[in-house]
Amino acid sequence: MKAITIDSYGKQVPLVMTEQPMPEIGEHDVLVDIHAASLNPIDFKIKEGKMKFLLSYKFPLILGNDFSGVVVKVGERVNAYKPGDEVFGRPRKNRIGTLAEFIAVHEDDISLKPRNLSFEEAASIPLVGLTTYQAFVDILKLQKGQKILIHAGSGGVGTFAIQLAKWMGAFVATTASDKGYDLVKSMGADLIINYKKENFEDMLTGYDAVFDTLGGAALEKSFRILKPGGQIVSVSGMPNARFGKEANLGWIKTTILSIISHKTTALEKKTNTRYHFLFMKPSGVQLNIIKEYIEEGHIKPVIDKVYPLEDTGQAFQYLEAGGAKGKVVIRIK
Ligand SMILES: NC(=O)c1ccc[n+]([C@@H]2O[C@H](COP(=O)([O-])OP(=O)(O)OC[C@H]3O[C@@H](n4cnc5c(N)ncnc54)[C@H](OP(=O)(O)O)[C@@H]3O)[C@@H](O)[C@H]2O)c1
Repeated sequence: MKAITIDSYGKQVPLVMTEQPMPEIGEHDVLVDIHAASLNPIDFKIKEGKMKFLLSYKFPLILGNDFSGVVVKVGERVNAYKPGDEVFGRPRKNRIGTLAEFIAVHEDDISLKPRNLSFEEAASIPLVGLTTYQAFVDILKLQKGQKILIHAGSGGVGTFAIQLAKWMGAFVATTASDKGYDLVKSMGADLIINYKKENFEDMLTGYDAVFDTLGGAALEKSFRILKPGGQIVSVSGMPNARFGKEANLGWIKTTILSIISHKTTALEKKTNTRYHFLFMKPSGVQLNIIKEYIEEGHIKPVIDKVYPLEDTGQAFQYLEAGGAKGKVVIRIK
């Protein structure tokens, strides 16, 4: 089968279309004929070797973390799916490789695809959808009427997050530039802060929650807008020791995390708030809930560009440039 692979880590390492053996399925796996994949910043971070602390891979490595497609074969112990089912998913982290014609994926990591979406639209959802669901439902337990700031509302995560927060009944402030204004408005954002001209930390106060997709200075300033007891979930900031313990990283890595996250730990104490780092997990169960939200019309996919598989290199460059409005999708079939 054709696949987009790398032979080593590095920013300049080329993405190459190679011929790879067909994946073999285990007893709980399904073999999927992939129709579309979508890109996420984690793809170029993996390519550049920036995720080595948390994820280790062998070469040649097939890249890609999101897919939609059709089941062609199921393992002996799979009951939930059958050949012909249209599915979507984010495979577990040691079994990535969606930029390919086929993938063998654990049945627990997928769901039937939303009936009202094309394959390209469906492939844009799993990673950003699960990330947001885990931030808002599992961690923040976001309540109706609460105020949340969503950073980078026009990005892949942000466009999904605004819609889910609105569906959950929250008041949503978001940061976007002029280029993203109309998009975040159409997603339902209540308050839009132009991050190129305005300082969100001077404009917002008494917030219940922040969903941070930026890290760095934006994360540190976010502590200032929270009310006491407020919470930040970051997917781009420093993982802290609490994350290390929950993720069973072992005491050496957990100690390193405790040291490198000292700033956020100090800010938590100073502002009487709570900081969580989230590294999203695959979940077919949660994906099925997201599928229902989509079929009921509460959430719509937002696609910026679609590239054919052979132009994946260009698609990576486009996403890495940082201005995507919604998701970048790769058409495979
Ligand atoms: N830990 C996890 O499990 C996890 C899961 C998902 C994502 N992430 C991380 O979350 C981050 C965001 O992912 P994504 O898919 O949303 O990325 P993305 O789609 O590439 O985000 C691009 C968007 O960010 C906006 N943006 C850039 N700088 C901004 C700023 N300072 N303030 C407000 N908006 C800004 C851009 O708007 P303009 O063009 O208008 O500037 C653009 O629309 C990435 O670092 C990714 O790795 C982590």
